[in-house]
Amino acid sequence: MSELLLGAGLLGVATPARANISLVVMLVAAVLFTIGWRLAVRKRYDAHRWVQTVAVVLNAALVLGWMVRSFVLYVVPEIPARLGQAAYAVTTLHAVVGAIGLVLGVFVALRGNGLVPKRLRFTNYKAFMRTSYGIYMLATLLGVLVYVNTYVHPL
Ligand code: HEM
Repeated sequence: MSELLLGAGLLGVATPARANISLVVMLVAAVLFTIGWRLAVRKRYDAHRWVQTVAVVLNAALVLGWMVRSFVLYVVPEIPARLGQAAYAVTTLHAVVGAIGLVLGVFVALRGNGLVPKRLRFTNYKAFMRTSYGIYMLATLLGVLVYVNTYVHPL
């Protein structure tokens, strides 16, 4: 694992340490979201709230501290000219799905912790939480595709 994080990479291909750390942390966040979902099913709502809040914060820190910068530097200048290329299309789709997941996830976490104004306090938790979970999982899957395409095997 330490070799992977230091840049030895997946499948024997050299990859930047930052991208490896980002991949591992996002996979950990996805596992946490799944554990949190199971806790809700078992009606352990306090534990559920804590686990989901930690996962949302981990996710948001990486997206805002690493991915947005990378997207603005390397992808935005090529839009729309290279959107026809699979790599740019997948990364852009990933960014759009990820941005929706981030906004929705932060909102639901704030709501769950009683931190939004009264008029925004939805009560249909299930619909909001299921949608956020699905979008986070889709964004993670697309993120893994972006990683594989960028560092392991171009699409
Ligand atoms: C739910 C939210 C998100 C999840 C779960 C997620 C997940 C991932 C994962 C697992 C990777 C592969 C590791 C890496 O290369 O860093 C990745 C890469 C990337 N993501 Fe995201 N992401 C999310 C949101 C976003 C957003 C909102 C943007 C852009 C505005 C974005 C842009 C990128 C870019 C450009 C890369 C390639 C970074 C690089 O290695 O240069 N992501 N993402």
